[in-house]
Amino acid sequence: MSQTSLNSLHYVDDILYWGNRFDLSPYASKASEAPVFLYNLPGIKERYQQMRQAWDKVSPNSKIFYAMKANSHPEILKLFKASGSGIDVVSAGEIRRAIECGFSSKEIIFSGVGKSKSEIEFAIDQQIYQINVESLPELQRLAQISAKKKKSIPVVLRVNPNVDVKTHPYIATGLSENKFGLEISAWPEIREIFKSNSSLSLAGISLHLGSQMMDFSGLAQALRLAKDFFLQIKKEFPEIRRFDVGGGLGVIYERQDFSAEEKMLKDYVSVAQDELRDLLKDPKFEIQSEPGRWLVAHSGILLTEVQYVKETPYKKFLIVNAGMHLLLRPALYQSYHHILPMKLYEQRKNQRYDVVGPICESSDFLAKNRELTESFQDEVLCIADVGAYGAVMSSDYNLQTKPQEICIY
Ligand SMILES: Cc1ncc(COP(=O)(O)O)c(C=O)c1O
Repeated sequence: MSQTSLNSLHYVDDILYWGNRFDLSPYASKASEAPVFLYNLPGIKERYQQMRQAWDKVSPNSKIFYAMKANSHPEILKLFKASGSGIDVVSAGEIRRAIECGFSSKEIIFSGVGKSKSEIEFAIDQQIYQINVESLPELQRLAQISAKKKKSIPVVLRVNPNVDVKTHPYIATGLSENKFGLEISAWPEIREIFKSNSSLSLAGISLHLGSQMMDFSGLAQALRLAKDFFLQIKKEFPEIRRFDVGGGLGVIYERQDFSAEEKMLKDYVSVAQDELRDLLKDPKFEIQSEPGRWLVAHSGILLTEVQYVKETPYKKFLIVNAGMHLLLRPALYQSYHHILPMKLYEQRKNQRYDVVGPICESSDFLAKNRELTESFQDEVLCIADVGAYGAVMSSDYNLQTKPQEICIY
């Protein structure tokens, strides 16, 4: 399937195309005004459908809640809503955005480690589907607010299983040293809070072990621990039936290999199916997931114009108009993004460059020591796979201009 993906970047007559329809050259001229994020909506739909089909094989009672933090562009959210997804949010702002884009409150899961009083009040007033609680003080705060309002929302306990999923330390979330989730050993205190607060209703448990997971042995281990915990809780709270496996499925940034990613998707859901087999037999059991990156990463590109080609005795720099203020991932996680020319020229040779932005920080780079086709001033480059954790993490640092964001349909 790989090269027929609607997300594939390839050349037709030396011009860069996206999927089977989009000639990207008309967008290049816009990148000199300001860098442009382009989003490929058919590509996102394709990924959602692939993931939907994979989960359908696991259970008819499986629900996908797209993790809006990956990309909260309204048109993308409307597409997920139209495709049948629910939504995972981490702030009141994201709840508002979800509702504005057509999601009903009953399609919203509220995750996150630092929910404020007013955010919890808002979530309760909106009567959202579920709140994923991450600490004892958060549970106590939720109990107080629910009692005061005489309203409750289903509570899911996010567990920290202390399992390593071998991702970048800044996106690992399932280790004891991380701020996320409740320790399983805290169950006696958790239980006490539920027993003494009739306004709280326990609905299930959740996990989120980290992002950009490429190996699923840690996931299997965490699911085993979480399943045992689920069964332990169920003895006293027989009504619990929701099990949220979180997000985290990774993508390949180094090259485009969609068939390898489909295989990863298959392996990932098989791990969940195998580890939760007994629970899945119960027709009332609901398995949930909160994917972000896998659904949208390949459906975003960033077009940026070369301002200067700077040569020193040590290096060649391509200084472009997009930097860490628009794409923070390389500075933050030393992450790799493919960089492609908009047009191929047979006679051009490759050169080694540092591709850097205009920001006054030495961490402001998009690529280091990268072999690329020779590029010149005023030409536009395409930074691939920026659909997830791209524009959403942008800032106006140095009072740089905001990026343009354009959806193609
Ligand atoms: C609680 C939670 N759910 C889901 C996600 C989405 O993860 P990913 O984009 O890796 O699928 C995240 C991301 O960090 C998260 O924190």
